[in-house]
Amino acid sequence: MNAKVINISNFKGGTGKTTTTVGTAYELSKSGYRVLVIDFDPQADSTAMLLPKLDLDENTTIFEAIHHGDLSLAKYEVKDNLDLIASDLDLTGLGDYLYKMHPQRLNERNSHLSKLIQPLKSEYDYIFIDVPPTVSVMTNNAFASSDYIILALQTQGASLRATKKLIPEIRQLVESLEIQPKILGVLAVIHSKSSATDKRIMKEAHELFEDAMFENIVQHRERIKAWGEDGITDNSSDHWDKDALEQYRLFGQEVIERIEKVEG
Ligand SMILES: Nc1ncnc2c1ncn2[C@@H]1O[C@H](COP(=O)(O)OP(=O)(O)OP(=O)(O)O)[C@@H](O)[C@H]1O
Ligand SMILES: [Mg+2]
Repeated sequence: MNAKVINISNFKGGTGKTTTTVGTAYELSKSGYRVLVIDFDPQADSTAMLLPKLDLDENTTIFEAIHHGDLSLAKYEVKDNLDLIASDLDLTGLGDYLYKMHPQRLNERNSHLSKLIQPLKSEYDYIFIDVPPTVSVMTNNAFASSDYIILALQTQGASLRATKKLIPEIRQLVESLEIQPKILGVLAVIHSKSSATDKRIMKEAHELFEDAMFENIVQHRERIKAWGEDGITDNSSDHWDKDALEQYRLFGQEVIERIEKVEG
């Protein structure tokens, strides 16, 4: 196995990056793929969603693992086929740490994560990196580690404007990288299917991004919102659990198909 590394991005907060990362990783693991989620955000939302009971005062965080040069020290099993590298607030120290490690070399600072991911690649089919919404040492490292970037577009005006600027911005950011990630597509995360604004923005997004738009969309569901509090719930006799997860199953399939198409 040589994992494909995927980053779901947007430099705007709250566009569904974490929820989509976690839901898709979860469903791919259910389909039998070996999947790792790297929580590379000090907000640690994907850690809270996947392992809500993990006590990181007692257990190793990704930042501590980075200090030891071995990410697997912060690796936890979520379920069959799905592991998490857990984050905590201490990751806010990453910028200072990398500056101390590589004072003169910006490229080395931005490719630090990529080097640490290499030994994990043989264990997985897909590795997802969840990042904060800001241009930061975290997002730079995630880009330098990724094969594919997916843009999460929330169907609100500000998000469309941010996403529009994002593609040239990402192209510029990755220009200096040794291996440049490809933008795999734009995923619409819908606030409300019946809202006139959302419909208008979907139309504009299709005009703007054309074939880059994923055919699947992630619709607004109260059950998905609750994952932020309770973690993913997956009761096979619960209609709303099945309905919520089905969206990520379908999106995950489309991601695989697109990657196969790109790689030929
Ligand atoms: N399909 C959905 N249906 C309902 N609520 C959703 C859906 N997707 C995401 N949300 C909610 O929207 C909010 C933002 O989602 P999320 O945390 O995934 O965004 P994010 O882009 O990772 O945010 P940040 O930029 O802070 O990292 C959360 O409250 C989440 O529960
Ligand atoms: Mg997030």
